Amino acid sequence: MRDVIVYPSSLPFVGNLSIPGDKSISHRALILSSLANGKCEISHFLPSEDCLSTMNVLRDLGIKIIQKTENQILVEGRGGKFFPPKNPLNCGNSGTSMRLLSGILVAQSFKSTLTGDSSLSSRPMQRIIEPLEKMGASIFSAEGARSPLEIKPVSSLSGISYVMPIASAQVKSAILLAGLYASGDIFIKQVALSRDHTERMLSYYGVDLEIDGLSIHMKGGQTLSARNFVVPSDISSAAFWIVAAIARGNSYLKIKNVGINPSRLAFLKVLDRMGESRVEIQKRNTLGGELIGDISVYGGNLKGTDILPSEVPNLIDEIPILMVAGALASGKTTVRGAKELRFKESDRISAMAQNLSQMGIKVQEYEDGLSVEGGLLKGGRVRSFGDHRIAISCAIAGLFSKEKVIIENGDCVDISYPEFYQHLIQWN
Ligand code: S3P
Repeated sequence: MRDVIVYPSSLPFVGNLSIPGDKSISHRALILSSLANGKCEISHFLPSEDCLSTMNVLRDLGIKIIQKTENQILVEGRGGKFFPPKNPLNCGNSGTSMRLLSGILVAQSFKSTLTGDSSLSSRPMQRIIEPLEKMGASIFSAEGARSPLEIKPVSSLSGISYVMPIASAQVKSAILLAGLYASGDIFIKQVALSRDHTERMLSYYGVDLEIDGLSIHMKGGQTLSARNFVVPSDISSAAFWIVAAIARGNSYLKIKNVGINPSRLAFLKVLDRMGESRVEIQKRNTLGGELIGDISVYGGNLKGTDILPSEVPNLIDEIPILMVAGALASGKTTVRGAKELRFKESDRISAMAQNLSQMGIKVQEYEDGLSVEGGLLKGGRVRSFGDHRIAISCAIAGLFSKEKVIIENGDCVDISYPEFYQHLIQWN
């Protein structure tokens, strides 16, 4: 746990930037490859702490995974069969690992226990326990439906017809993965569209599923075919630099081969309102069901905006950096309908409210959101709360501050973007 110091900079953000692989997609590429029948090669994999947690759990379950280079991974899928683990399976800080892997483990013929660090152990798990138990799974949790999760074998899993109470990609993914082992059909009705990587990637790996607006239908008991997969660059990591560039005059930044899945792009609509359409997307191709493109950003002034509750599910991970954009804009920026943010790696509403006010910005905290008045960022000491997206957002704020920003436990960026400070140094 290291403190990181970011010094103010007035350099415009000019040039081309290569962003590492997408975190959500890297987790899924590992998991779906391990379920496939045969060898799958994953390129441009993100070797961040979270994705390595998924990799280690799969190895503990007997899957042979060879890391040919940091970003090139060979997975020998075993057609949905795993071996009993010797020890509890450690998901570290990663909610995606725990929630998605639960969907697979409930269908195995052995007992397993999923654990994680103190942040993960405080995150809600009832959201996956409920639908998985409806399918016949047996899961014991710590008090308050928190991890560790103890999963016991059951004789079979049934299909489910499930209306999701919240928009969550992790929950629908857990149901779909368990559904691969179920005897009946899986019907999921979403309240709002959350990121749809699992649906797209399952199709790419040969699973038959139908999507109709917010409804998903998949026949149970399907198998995956071996496929190679190229992970696009992570739009959520690109978002930090997009905000930095759009907020500083004379910037022109190009980010190539980024995942431009529509369910991840709502933050660009918000930035369009704040910065008068200074972000351009050029679609390149589709790989493994995922759209890939280049993003160009032109710098200038920003004005405040209201982020609508309906936009929240498709920009949930970008809210911390959008609040920094709000601090750099004229006027007020507000987000409401974002209570889910309180259940992420940290309580991100409270973390950003504390950090921005610590840096001299006027902030109003609501149960389900935040309002930020644009103003002078004066710098100072802030806390990451062990949350990668909070640390990176504060580091970007540091580039625009009057004095340096010291980020306590700033090295937690390794969870999603280990190269972040190497990228930052070129503007520092
Ligand atoms: C993720 C889904 C989102 C997101 C998280 C990654 C995923 O959480 O916030 O960072 O990879 O499925 P939800 O489960 O709330 O959708």
